[in-house]
Amino acid sequence: MKLKVDNIAFRYDEEPLFKGLSFDVEAGEFVSILGPSGCGKSTVLNLLAGILTPEGGSMLVDGAPIKGMSSHFAYMPQNDLLFPWKTILQNVCLHGRLHGTEKAAQARARELFGLFGLAGYEDAWPSDLSGGMRQRAAFLRTALCDADILLLDEPFGALDVISRGDMQDWLVSMKQHLGRTCLLVTHDIDEAIFLSDRILVLGGRPADIRSEYRVVEAHRTRDWLYSQGELRHRLHDSIRGLEARPC
Ligand SMILES: Nc1ncnc2c1ncn2[C@@H]1O[C@H](COP(=O)(O)OP(=O)(O)O)[C@@H](O)[C@H]1O
Ligand SMILES: [Mg+2]
Repeated sequence: MKLKVDNIAFRYDEEPLFKGLSFDVEAGEFVSILGPSGCGKSTVLNLLAGILTPEGGSMLVDGAPIKGMSSHFAYMPQNDLLFPWKTILQNVCLHGRLHGTEKAAQARARELFGLFGLAGYEDAWPSDLSGGMRQRAAFLRTALCDADILLLDEPFGALDVISRGDMQDWLVSMKQHLGRTCLLVTHDIDEAIFLSDRILVLGGRPADIRSEYRVVEAHRTRDWLYSQGELRHRLHDSIRGLEARPC
């Protein structure tokens, strides 16, 4: 589904964080919002998820305005937020449990455990899993929500650099299978290049989309990523000098 963010205004205090933030995400597109810490990336996702309310402007999915929490979105926050007292299967089926469809969710989840690198861990506890596996479990929980648009807040930010690379490789291989519209926020330039169809650079005070880059490549491999020196430089230059409020 197509997402349109149109002229959004928002502030936490007297200084506006956004004064007229606008961008689009096409149906099925993978878009990253890239920017320095504190520029407002998580706030964008919280506004879309209905956790925060904009002062002005509108957000539309396929042309219809959204207000408050919308079933169009599945939100994966930066921390995996798995319940330690529930098994992995119970954790990933949370949405189904809340909506009275736990049995169906469990059947679907069992089919997907292998694809998410979790085969055999259905009845394990979150504490039994590595950081990468926990993130994949959180990802599976998000994917099992019947939402067309995934909102991903630095989903691999808490992982060490090796696990993060593995997770990025895994997500590239999963993109086709997911077949959803994805909006990812990150401060990692390589992650944005590797995963995105389009990169939006967010920054400034008030924050706005300062530049936009299209990434056209069907076969994403590490070799391809490492050959993207020029794009990496351009993104660095775009981000450098963007002022963000102190966190
Ligand atoms: N609940 C809050 N109250 C006041 N200021 C906040 C709150 N949450 C975030 N901020 C501020 O808003 C700015 C944007 O925050 P955030 O969206 O979390 O940035 P990012 O995700 O890009 O690091 C930062 O300066 C942050 O300190
Ligand atoms: Mg953030």
